[in-house]
Amino acid sequence: MSHDRQGLTRRRLLQVSLSASALTASLKPAASAWFPPTPMQPAGPFYAPFKPLSIDNDLLFLPGRTQRADGEMIHISGRVRDQSGKAIKGARVEIWQANQYGRYNHPRHENSNLKLDPNFQGFGHDATDEAGAYRFRTIKPGPYPDSPNWLRPPHIHFAVFPPGGPSWTTQLYFAGEPLNDSDFLLQGLPTDADRNRVTVALKPPTAALEAESRLGVFDITLGIPGVRREKI
Ligand SMILES: [Fe+2]
Repeated sequence: MSHDRQGLTRRRLLQVSLSASALTASLKPAASAWFPPTPMQPAGPFYAPFKPLSIDNDLLFLPGRTQRADGEMIHISGRVRDQSGKAIKGARVEIWQANQYGRYNHPRHENSNLKLDPNFQGFGHDATDEAGAYRFRTIKPGPYPDSPNWLRPPHIHFAVFPPGGPSWTTQLYFAGEPLNDSDFLLQGLPTDADRNRVTVALKPPTAALEAESRLGVFDITLGIPGVRREKI
């Protein structure tokens, strides 16, 4: 009995010790961790030409309107960090995107025959918190023709403005979209790993989110603009 109890005690201590170690490891970034930067992508021609009146992080509704934007509701959230994994707080994160019908609310897209959605904000921003976290509620954008031979897949443009640092522009793509395979910008990235870093799989929502929505997690690692480094 005594032996068993001692054995149990040793096992229990080992479990506690392992649990404590695992917890400690999960809280402390590994000293050798180094995150490749999220690939930069061009801002494109549809960046907001003026600051919209509503520039919050909820693109689903416009002020004064009760009708939400058309399309599938999605939440996009993530963390902004540097290549050591350190959270970047106070970074301004902007997104802009086409509506469900592939139309940007931008003068350069006025010549398209794509439908405008008067309820869609199309542009938004958030600021990262202490953990470097940001979030947006929006709709999944539709594809649109960029040129006669180029149909752009659904994507969301991002611009991140860290305090005191240069801005970082990229684009978020959605996993499983057939048009991803023929997109010049996505396929122009050097490696599959780079493409994976900007491609997000939409998942079922958490309990706190709308049951009909989906959630995509997009962490953004800022590197040094113009310098491609896998490891420094
Ligand atoms: Fe675009």
